[in-house]
Amino acid sequence: MLTKPYKLVLATRNRGKFVEIEKLLCGNEIDLLSLIDFPEVPDVVEDGSTFEENALKKARFVSNTLGLPALADDSGLCVDALSGRPGVMSARYAGPGSDDRLRYTRVLDEMIGVEDHLRTARFVCVLALVTPEGDERIFRGACEGLILKEPVGKGGFGYDPIFFFEPHGMTFGQMDLDTKNLVSHRGIALKMFADFVKGLKSSGSA
Ligand code: IMP
Repeated sequence: MLTKPYKLVLATRNRGKFVEIEKLLCGNEIDLLSLIDFPEVPDVVEDGSTFEENALKKARFVSNTLGLPALADDSGLCVDALSGRPGVMSARYAGPGSDDRLRYTRVLDEMIGVEDHLRTARFVCVLALVTPEGDERIFRGACEGLILKEPVGKGGFGYDPIFFFEPHGMTFGQMDLDTKNLVSHRGIALKMFADFVKGLKSSGSA
């Protein structure tokens, strides 16, 4: 699936994501590249109705364009009382030009009157691995939590301040990044991917 020279392109221009994944894969003899190395590759429109569709669309496009294995992600917050919204719309939930605060405020507003025990939600992260030979793999991480009635904590990004993680008794906005990475949807999906790569390596494929 991944063959020598073990090149893998991350379908992102986000330096933070690149560093996070590089840290997880170090020691696996993978030459990790990202779209920062290929500025000519255009952005893909994320118009799928599921995280899987969006992640696969990005990974397929980058792999086809560059002729290299590609790994793409899509993630977001799914709130039960909102029928799974914002879901794949997480990054643009309050319309164009909005910021994180406007997006989580929209979620809070839509949940006015929702009782505590019905405020369940989860962050989801899907990673898609696609190779030029047409092999495709999906890794899905999820992290359960509760939506608070007002934001708490100034750390993190996105919906972190309204997402209460019960096992640690705090919001993601109050959590340091290393702790968050151990329990988060993204951390779980990346760990699944790293374990998969280690498995390939020990079986001689990567
Ligand atoms: P993308 O996967 O980079 O497109 O991100 C989707 C959107 O989901 C982000 O812009 C955030 O609004 C939200 N999101 C994804 N992961 C997290 C997280 O760990 N904390 C807070 N918000 C998140």
